[in-house]
Amino acid sequence: MTVQIDHALEEIRRFRPSPEFAAQSVADPALYEAARADRLAFWADQARELVQWEKPFTRTLDWTNPPFAKWFDDGELNVAVNCLDRHVEAGLGDRVAIHWEGEPGDSRDITYAQLTDEVKRAANVLESLGIGSGDRVAIYLPMIPEAVVSMLAVARIGAIHSVVFGGFSSDSLASRIDDAEASLVITADGGFRKGRVFPLKPVVDEALAKTEGGTVRNVLVVRRGENEIEWTEGRDLWWHETVTDASNEHVPSAFPAEHPLFILYTSGTTGKPKGILHTSGGYLVQTSFTHKYVFDLHPETDVFWCTADVGWVTGHSYVVYGPLANGATQVLYEGTPDTPHPGRWWEIVEKYKVSILYTAPTAIRSFMKLGRQIPQQFNLRSLRVLGSVGEPINPEAWIWYREVIGGGSIPVVDTWWQTETGAIMISPLPGVMDLTPGSAQAPIPGVEVDILTDEGEPVDGENGGFLVITEPWPAMLRGIWGDPERFKQTYWEKYGEKYFAGDGARRDEDGDIWLLGRVDDVMNVSGHRLSTTEIESSLVAHPWTAEAAVVGASDETTGQAVVAFVILKASQVSHITDPNDASEELRKHVAVQIGAIARPRQVFIVNELPKTRSGKIMRRLLRDLAEGRQVGDTTTLADTSIMEVISAQVR
Ligand code: WT7
Repeated sequence: MTVQIDHALEEIRRFRPSPEFAAQSVADPALYEAARADRLAFWADQARELVQWEKPFTRTLDWTNPPFAKWFDDGELNVAVNCLDRHVEAGLGDRVAIHWEGEPGDSRDITYAQLTDEVKRAANVLESLGIGSGDRVAIYLPMIPEAVVSMLAVARIGAIHSVVFGGFSSDSLASRIDDAEASLVITADGGFRKGRVFPLKPVVDEALAKTEGGTVRNVLVVRRGENEIEWTEGRDLWWHETVTDASNEHVPSAFPAEHPLFILYTSGTTGKPKGILHTSGGYLVQTSFTHKYVFDLHPETDVFWCTADVGWVTGHSYVVYGPLANGATQVLYEGTPDTPHPGRWWEIVEKYKVSILYTAPTAIRSFMKLGRQIPQQFNLRSLRVLGSVGEPINPEAWIWYREVIGGGSIPVVDTWWQTETGAIMISPLPGVMDLTPGSAQAPIPGVEVDILTDEGEPVDGENGGFLVITEPWPAMLRGIWGDPERFKQTYWEKYGEKYFAGDGARRDEDGDIWLLGRVDDVMNVSGHRLSTTEIESSLVAHPWTAEAAVVGASDETTGQAVVAFVILKASQVSHITDPNDASEELRKHVAVQIGAIARPRQVFIVNELPKTRSGKIMRRLLRDLAEGRQVGDTTTLADTSIMEVISAQVR
């Protein structure tokens, strides 16, 4: 099989869209021309075409106080109305918004009219609980329709949601609740994952016992897992006893374009996650624009499925806001890809005739490992566009995705973006461009990027450098919640008014952009961002740990994996007879403190860590070890023999 793929790679380096696809494609080369001719006029046109404004804007961009951008700032809109009411008013109330599939196999189809009603009810309940414009609501839910309803209900009343992925621990949830000073938490008793109920409400109870702010007044609980939970009278409320009975009459207000929409926490290079702040108008314009053109959306006929959890930015932009603003029909799936059988995803594609599938390379690679005979048992002929996001997709996986899932003839789009960018930034538009396997290729119309040297000079030829975004874009983050200084330092200090993305990139001889991964202490595990420092802090917080160093080592399936090197406290060493017990304990500890996604693949117990004379840990050398390579240049180590000692302990 490998030989065949290598051959294919050499033979066809680029894939031309089929004439049939190109003929029906919604994108057009004219989009690039219009954006090049006048970028701001282009975005203003998109904003008028894609979004319903209660008060039209007259100013497109205010960049007089960089890096604080304002887009469409004298305009007013209601984001939820854009995603719901306007479609119902346009006569599309009976169109299915969500085909929801629970992991145990229960399912619900929810039309735009029904979703609108449910959001209005939820909005009434939120208001009755005293939630108003600008208040923060934490959402900690499984992938059930109520997650979408909650987000839109919060948006409808001008409050700000902070969705926390259901896999995060009570500590992580508590620190996010405190940082945002949330006054309400929306959760469920539990959700289904890998054939079991995983508890959520008990984690919320634990988190609230740990919060320092005491800002949370109520907890709204959806019944899903039917697991046993504790109840705090006066604080806790059932969704089915409040929202279900509430009135479905709710008159929406219009909010300024720059009104905050949500905060989403993501790992940075320090131990403390950053609350990335997004606002309303510009975010909705770019998410709906990219959802329409990158996926070639035909809302009357397509069935879209983005497999991301709403706890990540992909779930915000391409499960909730982009697809619903565009009136799309989509699939929402609660569970894991392999439950109850390894063909579950393909069964869902067949059942709902999914036509556009958007997922992560890590998922594609795990399906590759399982083999093509699993997807081949299902009818996947409804698919016509495939998307990839979260990490670089290797050309082999790209080609497998196109061949095995896409039947060999449909476009695959590799989309680069970040929590901070809010929406897709670099991606081909299918039907317009020839596709290069493994490359995200080019910025979308209206986005300007460059690749710079450390000194800020554009790199020439095919050299790699640092990816920057050279002009403000509508969906850009507006800041870090409560920390404007950190916002400036993290993204704008290195290159002045150019946004520093933290990724390496290069251009090939055709001008295509290839993303090369993070250039900072951020790891990418299964498309999720994790900070080395955050995991090190967690390890050091364990009473056995004296020192810890964490690296992201390349991993066949997950892209990168967390590998830790730990020195135990001398006082502990004599009590621990088997270092494997210590490794196991520390792996568990990180999973409990941060969440299962952060659990190290390996924890090596060592006596020394490689340090420079100034005491800086040389992670590069540890990465060599973790990846089983010959250890690189050790001349800057304070003690050059140390790597031999560590290597012997790791083996
Ligand atoms: C980081 C952002 C954007 C939604 C999911 C992740 C990496 C993302 C690609 C891609 C190469 C990619 C980058 C980026 N990344 N998409 N198509 N090719 N790398 O969001 O958690 O904010 O992570 O993911 O390193 O900086 P996130």
